[in-house]
Amino acid sequence: MSCQAGVIESSGWSRRRQLRGRTLGPRAKPARPHPSVFAPCAAAGCVLPSFWGSDPIDPLHATQYGSEHVHSMPRRSRVLAVVNQKGGVGKTTTAVNLAASFAASERATLLIDMDPQANASAAYGVRDVDRHVYDALIGECVMKDATLPTDLSHLHLVPAGTDLVGAEVELVSAPDRERRLERALADVRDLYDLTLIDCPPSLGLLTLNALTAADGVIIPLQCEYYALEGLARLLETMDLVRSGLNPDVSLEAIVLTMVDRRNNLARQVEAEVREHFGARVMDTRIPRNVRLSEAPSHGKPILLYDIHSKGSVAYLALAEEMLGRPGFAEDRLTPPPLVSEPPGPATPEGIDHDDTP
Ligand SMILES: Nc1ncnc2c1ncn2[C@@H]1O[C@H](COP(=O)(O)OP(=O)(O)OP(=O)(O)O)[C@@H](O)[C@H]1O
Ligand SMILES: [Mg+2]
Repeated sequence: MSCQAGVIESSGWSRRRQLRGRTLGPRAKPARPHPSVFAPCAAAGCVLPSFWGSDPIDPLHATQYGSEHVHSMPRRSRVLAVVNQKGGVGKTTTAVNLAASFAASERATLLIDMDPQANASAAYGVRDVDRHVYDALIGECVMKDATLPTDLSHLHLVPAGTDLVGAEVELVSAPDRERRLERALADVRDLYDLTLIDCPPSLGLLTLNALTAADGVIIPLQCEYYALEGLARLLETMDLVRSGLNPDVSLEAIVLTMVDRRNNLARQVEAEVREHFGARVMDTRIPRNVRLSEAPSHGKPILLYDIHSKGSVAYLALAEEMLGRPGFAEDRLTPPPLVSEPPGPATPEGIDHDDTP
């Protein structure tokens, strides 16, 4: 099915209207008064994955997304890749602060930096370490040897380094190149309740490794006109991964980031995303908040930098919302002992209380 607003109109929307007519009676949705924000998708000639126009509350499609399968099979460890090939949409900010918020809820959490930019590592004050994720991917060390403690007792970090830039090229001819992360994680994944993987802004080999290793995908989405164009390609890639490398990977959550509710277009995009993806769009929105952009330069997640900021409150609420889902990280493991020391002390004195604009 090609990504045309008209196709979406005639399938998902009209079916949803019928369904609402059955279940909600007179509150059927009126015709949309505005041109669809999915239009850029069509203009770019994107091909949509099979479930794109599906009604998210249709139980059949819930299975197609994979979520029913995952939630009905509680497992101790859950690996979530934070993915969007569009740059600057809040992947790292979400991975860093959601991981910190899970850890604050006493879930043993592992954050893996799979981006050669190493922003998630820098956000925890980690730079220029001897061992990082690249060494684990190429088999130079086991994952545990590349794992560092952080200022949060329940959070460990596998940092990235500049070598990772070459990994995409070096691994191209390697056997099982898409399964390197999955293999490296095998020894440690069950030592944590949750593992989050921060992906680079591409759908290359590093992201493919993350999708192959993951149980679920979190997509941070900035509510702007072209946001959905990239989303179609990402969902296609997930479809491909599901049909071969990892049949179990599901769309865990879409997180709306840098939300400014005063912006009409943002509200329109949000409404359309919620219409199409239903319960997979988290209720919690991450607002645009300057404290979130300041925190990484202090080497701290937002809850250690300014716990009262809107950004911190939002990420804690997002973690709570995810943890409230049945079967999601219900255990509370104690993180495994590590030999390395945390990168630096996190003291309350370091917290800056400037006003949030
Ligand atoms: N909610 C927010 N409010 C304000 N600034 C934000 C917010 N989320 C992210 N930012 C800022 O926006 C920029 C991009 O965010 P981030 O690095 O998380 O995106 P990304 O998707 O990981 O980018 P890349 O694709 O380059 O890896 C950063 O400067 C970050 O501090
Ligand atoms: Mg990033």
